[in-house]
Amino acid sequence: MLSRGSPLPSPAMSAHTSPAIELRGASKVFRTPSGAAHTAVRELDLTVGHGEFVAVVGPTGCGKSTTLTLVSGLEEPTQGEVLVAGQPVRGVGDKVGFVFQQDATFPWRTVLSNVMAGPRFRGVPKAEAKSRAREWLGRVGLAAFEDRYPHQLSGGQRKRVALAATFVNDPQILLMDEPFSALDVQTRALMSDELLELWEGTGASVVFVTHDLEESIALADKVVVMTAGPATVKQVFDIDLPRPRKVESVRLEPRFIEIYREIWESLGEEVRITRERGAAHVA
Ligand SMILES: Nc1ncnc2c1ncn2[C@@H]1O[C@H](COP(=O)(O)OP(=O)(O)OP(=O)(O)O)[C@@H](O)[C@H]1O
Ligand SMILES: [Mg+2]
Repeated sequence: MLSRGSPLPSPAMSAHTSPAIELRGASKVFRTPSGAAHTAVRELDLTVGHGEFVAVVGPTGCGKSTTLTLVSGLEEPTQGEVLVAGQPVRGVGDKVGFVFQQDATFPWRTVLSNVMAGPRFRGVPKAEAKSRAREWLGRVGLAAFEDRYPHQLSGGQRKRVALAATFVNDPQILLMDEPFSALDVQTRALMSDELLELWEGTGASVVFVTHDLEESIALADKVVVMTAGPATVKQVFDIDLPRPRKVESVRLEPRFIEIYREIWESLGEEVRITRERGAAHVA
C-alpha cells in the first residue's frame, strides 16, 4: 500500500512532468507480402517537449511516416517503447491530430460540416461544434466558404480546411506528414506562416515530416535528421532563430543559411547512401 506523500507519480502528474512524446529504442519490423521481414525503424530514440515543434527530415523511404504511425498509435512498435505524456501509446488517442499529404476531407460534406465532424464525433453538442468550427474557419480565412464542398476549393483552401478540422479538436499532439508538399511554392510558404500562427496560440507539440530542409528550419525548434533506412536518429539540430518567424524572410538570414549548410552536410550523406542503393526516387 502507498503511504501518504508517496513519490510515485499519478498518471496526471506524470502527464505534466514527462515529455509530450518519447520513443525509446523503438523498432518496427514489417512482414512483406513474400513473408520476409523488413525493418523500417531501428532503435529510434526521440523526445519531443511540451509545445515543441520538431521537424523530421530524411531520405525517401527511410521510415519517417512509419515513425509517425508509431506515435499516432496506428502501428505498434515491434520493440522498444512509445510514450505520449508519459503513458505507453495504446491505439489512437483523441488528443492526437493528423495532417497528411493527401486531403483528408469528406468530399460529400460542406466545409463547415467537415470542420464540425471531429467535435461531433467526440460528442460535442451540435450548436457548440458549429460555433467552434466557424471560429476556426475564420482563423484560416475561410469564413465565406463554409457552404462550399471540397471540390469547389483550391488546393491551398482545402489544406486550410484540413488545418481548421485538426485544430478545432484542440490536439495536444500534432502529427504532420508532408502536409504542404502538393502545393506550389508560394502557397506553401503562406501555409507555413499560417501554421506557425495557428500553432503559437495552442501549446501543441508538433512532429512535422518533410523533404524540404528549408521548410523544416523555418518552422521548427529542432530538426531531426534520420539515417538512410531503417530510420534511426542520426543528429538533432537546435534551431536558434527567433520567433515569431516569417518563412519568406527568415530563409534569407545569414544564420539560416549557416544552419542549412550544417544540416545539409548531415542529411546529404544519407540521401547519397539511399541513392547509391538504387532507390527509384530520391528527395
Ligand atoms: N505496411 C507496410 N508493410 C511493409 N513495408 C512497409 C509498410 N509501410 C512501410 N513499409 C516500408 O518501410 C520503409 C519505410 O517506409 P516509410 O513510409 O516510413 O518511409 P518514409 O521515410 O516516410 O518515405 P517517404 O519520404 O518516401 O514518404 C519503406 O521501405 C516501406 O516500403
Ligand atoms: Mg512518408
